[in-house]
Amino acid sequence: MSLFRKKSLDLLMAQGADSDKGLKRTLGVGNLIALGIGAIIGAGLFVRTAAAAGQHAGPAVTLSFIVAAIGCAFAGLCYAEFASMIPIAGSAYTYAYATMGELVAWIIGWALILEYALGAATVSIAWSEFLNKLLLQFNLGSIPYEWSHSPFEKALDTANVMHHGIVNLPALLILLILSLLLIKGTSESAFVNGIIVFIKVAIVLMFIFIGWKYINPANHTPYLIPENAPPATLPDGTQYSYTNFFRHGWGGVLTGAGIVFFAFIGFDAVSTAAQEAKNPKRDMPIGILGSLVICTILYILFSYVLTGVAPYTDFVKAGKEASVSYAIDTYMHIGWLGKAVTIAILAGFSSVILVMLMGQSRVFYTMATDGLLPKVFSALHPKFRTPYKSNMILFVFVGLFAAFIPGSVAGDLTSIGTLFAFVLVSAGVWIMRVNDPGRARPFRTPLVPLVPILGIIVCTAMIVSLDNQTLLTAFGWMVLGLLVYFGYSKKNSKLQKP
Ligand code: ALA
Repeated sequence: MSLFRKKSLDLLMAQGADSDKGLKRTLGVGNLIALGIGAIIGAGLFVRTAAAAGQHAGPAVTLSFIVAAIGCAFAGLCYAEFASMIPIAGSAYTYAYATMGELVAWIIGWALILEYALGAATVSIAWSEFLNKLLLQFNLGSIPYEWSHSPFEKALDTANVMHHGIVNLPALLILLILSLLLIKGTSESAFVNGIIVFIKVAIVLMFIFIGWKYINPANHTPYLIPENAPPATLPDGTQYSYTNFFRHGWGGVLTGAGIVFFAFIGFDAVSTAAQEAKNPKRDMPIGILGSLVICTILYILFSYVLTGVAPYTDFVKAGKEASVSYAIDTYMHIGWLGKAVTIAILAGFSSVILVMLMGQSRVFYTMATDGLLPKVFSALHPKFRTPYKSNMILFVFVGLFAAFIPGSVAGDLTSIGTLFAFVLVSAGVWIMRVNDPGRARPFRTPLVPLVPILGIIVCTAMIVSLDNQTLLTAFGWMVLGLLVYFGYSKKNSKLQKP
């Protein structure tokens, strides 16, 4: 049997239409945009913006956001065509199955685990850090270091006593709560997500409006970091120089784009819910592109204000994580806003985790329906009609990472998995236009093949710019995936059975 056997689109559509047995169609266009924003605004905006500004782009981090957004827009336009044409759960995996065959579909499904499962783990670890910050801000003490860090981390406290992490319990707790919510139901999850999105967007807007008055034009001059910019001081007292090509000018803007790319991850998660959308042909493109546009505008304004309120060199010294609260406390002196931002960050992280977990279980659901994964991943709850067993297994799998692995390890792997999916989806749109030009496409990607080609080029460039260690780990993950495919999935594939 061929490794490149494709699933016919007619079969896919028939499966998707069989909604009596499958997932419930409960999501409207508002839910879908909220789902996108829920997955998009998170650690990328609140943590990585300051890191990119401080170390590479300066105030021109706004341009980094534009560069990253252009890369995402190419991929987003391709996702939109597929999501309206094949409104089935499973996203990039499903599209690849229809266009490039089973092996490529498997590879992409396996890469999506990096994006969604590891993405959820990364953000739950960040959630744990910010929970501690919130407790401190409200003078409620803090969770002991041992119980809120992985065994690979250690730190000195103020009394010079060394603490070693044991397990990250808050990260596990948030994963458990959100997994239970997902089991309860998609519309319930969408409702909670909607509330969270409202809170985080409101606070992002508040920061932009209030912060605008505190912008010091001197902080925005010059807009790009000059080559001879004076070095910044790192927390350990050493100097951080800007002379390297990737730390000033346009080189810095491009590196900054690679860093803030993480902030855009998640718009594609909208497409994993295609089978639960009420009117997917119209609403999928609106959900994907709408959430992308809204977030891009918010990101540019937010980073413009942040770098206007505080000089970018502060973000090297003051630490990357608390930089937004730092800027508020140091330059704006508005105590309640600092606390509100921490709450928004916690809320923001929660919805990112929620949508990532949901996306992962929907990809697994589809892979199991196709026989490539064991049936347990497609078992639906008799009452809630959600893939509850998959949600429970995922909680254990993602929880192991969140509890025992440091967050820094998982972040870049998330980006690789995502970029890889973007490349294949872009290629898929082009292939499908050639192979099946007559198929109804409620949304058409403009300027094919130019847009897919640009999507492939920009995303490949971002993959190559990641560090070698990350590339090697991702390669190892893909080799493991091939072993699973040839050991299990190929034999059990429904398509491969006579
Ligand atoms: N875009 C998501 C975030 O920034 C993954 O947290």
